[in-house]
Amino acid sequence: MNFKILVVDDEKNIREGLAESLEMEGYDVVTASDGESAYKRYQRGDIDLVITDLRMPGMSGEDLLKKVKSETPGVAVIVLTGHGTVRDAVQAMKDGAWDFLTKPIQDLDRLNIIVQRALGNRRRRLEQQALEEELAKRKQSEIIIGENHAMRNMMDTIVRAAPTRASILITGESGVGKELVADAIHSLSPRNGKPFIKVHCAALAESLLESELFGHEKGSFTGATSRKRGKFELANEGTLFLDEIGEIDQNIQIKLLRVLQERKFERVGGEETIEVDIRLVAATNRDLKAEIEKGKFREDLYYRLNVVSIAVPPLRERKDDLHILINAFLKQFTAENDKKITGIDPKALAEINGYNWPGNVRELRNCIESAVVMARGEVITKEDLPPSIHSEHEESLIRIPQGTTLEKAEELLIRATLNAQKGNKSETARVLGIGRKTLHRKLEEYGFAVDS
Ligand SMILES: Nc1ncnc2c1ncn2[C@@H]1O[C@H](COP(=O)(O)OP(=O)(O)OP(=O)(O)O)[C@@H](O)[C@H]1O
Ligand SMILES: [Mg+2]
Repeated sequence: MNFKILVVDDEKNIREGLAESLEMEGYDVVTASDGESAYKRYQRGDIDLVITDLRMPGMSGEDLLKKVKSETPGVAVIVLTGHGTVRDAVQAMKDGAWDFLTKPIQDLDRLNIIVQRALGNRRRRLEQQALEEELAKRKQSEIIIGENHAMRNMMDTIVRAAPTRASILITGESGVGKELVADAIHSLSPRNGKPFIKVHCAALAESLLESELFGHEKGSFTGATSRKRGKFELANEGTLFLDEIGEIDQNIQIKLLRVLQERKFERVGGEETIEVDIRLVAATNRDLKAEIEKGKFREDLYYRLNVVSIAVPPLRERKDDLHILINAFLKQFTAENDKKITGIDPKALAEINGYNWPGNVRELRNCIESAVVMARGEVITKEDLPPSIHSEHEESLIRIPQGTTLEKAEELLIRATLNAQKGNKSETARVLGIGRKTLHRKLEEYGFAVDS
């Protein structure tokens, strides 16, 4: 680690003498002859230690000291004082100075010892900080539970792509964890700490979505009673997550394309061109390639969104992850519900293993939560599991116990059909003889899709 020291004094002899002896010790040294230029240099952010005179024309050493300490408490400031100005030195120490040296500096050993100690402290701080950042990163990727090889590959892609500004398209069935992936991308990126804005594109009608994304000027349409900043503006310097991107219509697709190409747009009803610096992450459970074929999704937009693509595999294709997911959810829900449950019995496990999980991890999570709540003993049995996951092997038959409400029976039928159709919603809707929209609404009620 090569440390950089900023030496500030209006007296050339002192400044250069000090710089020279520090350079001989192997430090990088930069100098400034007054407070203002010193502060400007310091703001570049690469200074590890400041040594400054207190009395200088213009911005004083005291002011410089206070600014440095308030902006970067981890950067030490050593002050230089003239003879007979002990009070200045005492005040500087109160203001957070690391130490003081009396001019003219004759005792070079003392200087070196003070500098070494200050930088030793700096080194420990930087190491601590790096460690904390590393830990935070690890925590974030541990939230996405999965050890299956496809999941590992996916995690690897996330870690490599997150620090860049490349647009990312996340695909996968409902409940596989697309939003979790988006969260991880943002927190593993340098934009972490800046805004992370989510827009659920399917939840809004076209005109509303447009003003939600791009904002609007006062009076641009009925109901626009004041100027509103859109999500693109709010996400400036951060990440914008467009969920259910497959649902947006052509008009907005064109606008999106332009923002992605030029990073510029206008508010609805506005003239002013607004520039933004955003990282775009989008997600969909649709097959966008098929939508392109049908002429419903723009191919050029698709390629802009899909610079990096992350396909989250459905749970039925990574059943080797079932056990760690189950354990994690058991731990979470036993704690939340204050229950003591030690595990799952083999029959219940077989049932879970045999099921297809059309609602993916979300469905498994709900299933474990409900089992924890329902469990009578310390071990979860087959009877504690929700009826929807039973008798997977008898796909053509569903068992509806007497006393079931019509509503519940409907739910069971829909779940069983969806399961038999391996999660394919269009097929499920066709078999059931209902519209896709109706099916979606009902699935949402059962907790299959995010409500927003
Ligand atoms: N790998 C995983 N590890 C732990 N929890 C997960 C994992 N995948 C999903 N989950 C959990 O499952 C639920 C659904 O995940 P999420 O909302 O990210 O899915 P989604 O793919 O966005 O679904 P939809 O398409 O319906 O919006 C969440 O509670 C999430 O925390
Ligand atoms: Mg989602």
